Amino acid sequence: MNNKNTMPRPAKAHPTNKAAKAEAELAEVLRPGQSVELLKELHILTREGRLNQDSRRKLKQVYHLFQFIEQLLRELPGEGAEATLADHGAGKSYLGFIIYDLFFRARQGGHVYGIETRSELVERSRALARQLGFGRMSFLNLTVAESAQASELPAQIDVVTALHACDTATDDAIAFGLAKKARCMVLVPCCQAEVAACLRETKALALSRTPLAELWRHPLHTREIGSQLTNVLRCLYLEANGYSVTVTELVGWEHSMKNELILARYTGQRKASAATRLRELLAQFGLDTLGDTRFRLAD
Ligand SMILES: C[S@@+](CC[C@H](N)C(=O)[O-])C[C@H]1O[C@@H](n2cnc3c(N)ncnc32)[C@H](O)[C@@H]1O
Repeated sequence: MNNKNTMPRPAKAHPTNKAAKAEAELAEVLRPGQSVELLKELHILTREGRLNQDSRRKLKQVYHLFQFIEQLLRELPGEGAEATLADHGAGKSYLGFIIYDLFFRARQGGHVYGIETRSELVERSRALARQLGFGRMSFLNLTVAESAQASELPAQIDVVTALHACDTATDDAIAFGLAKKARCMVLVPCCQAEVAACLRETKALALSRTPLAELWRHPLHTREIGSQLTNVLRCLYLEANGYSVTVTELVGWEHSMKNELILARYTGQRKASAATRLRELLAQFGLDTLGDTRFRLAD
């Protein structure tokens, strides 16, 4: 007997039930008023406006990061109603778009700036902002370093974000934040080669005869410890410049090894002990030149 013909087939979901189920699922994860069009454009939702396993994960990640930024925005005067935010190394600007959609769109004021060196991405973001009617978004085809002097940006910026901005672009974003008297900075550093290159060159002379030298003997470890050391130096630098710093993990960012999230809030209390530790670390690791450039402290 042919089993194929006798086996009962699983009941097919009624098309309207299926559609209703998909819609209910979507409603469960969308925030009130959230733009489905934007999520489709960012490929967070499928072209049909549906969720799949991948998009569910992406949305979870985006919300996770957004919740930190939203809290910082709400701590600003007027609960952030007039806040300015600059996103460095913006790429396709999905972070800026999501923040605008979930926070700024419903408000009358505020402005989001995306800074990106790849002109095609800047053009694409400008077109998408026009399409969505996101009028208080600007995209600047500049390097992070250039943007600190750019006339298109205001003298003060409230929030600085840099999500996986390449290499030293994170340091440039910190310098930008300091120059613009940012009230907070949200940094997820990318790989960083500068400190590792210095370590390779100087071999951290003061430590080379100690067992600690084992930490960077292998090239892969030099890179990793260079990256770790860079983030430690960045945190000390921020603290020495009047920021309180929290370091946490960008949970759910499984597709990237780089998931350290540095949150800095301006308090105005310059931490002298952080400045001392920063100088000591630079000296111990033979990185004094960075003390004259990246991590220059006021006397
Ligand atoms: C890894 S992507 C991250 C993009 C986006 N932030 C995200 O998380 O999806 C890094 C982006 O930073 C840009 N970038 C790298 N160095 C930069 C610099 N110095 N100034 C401005 N943009 C830079 C690159 O062109 C790239 O689009």
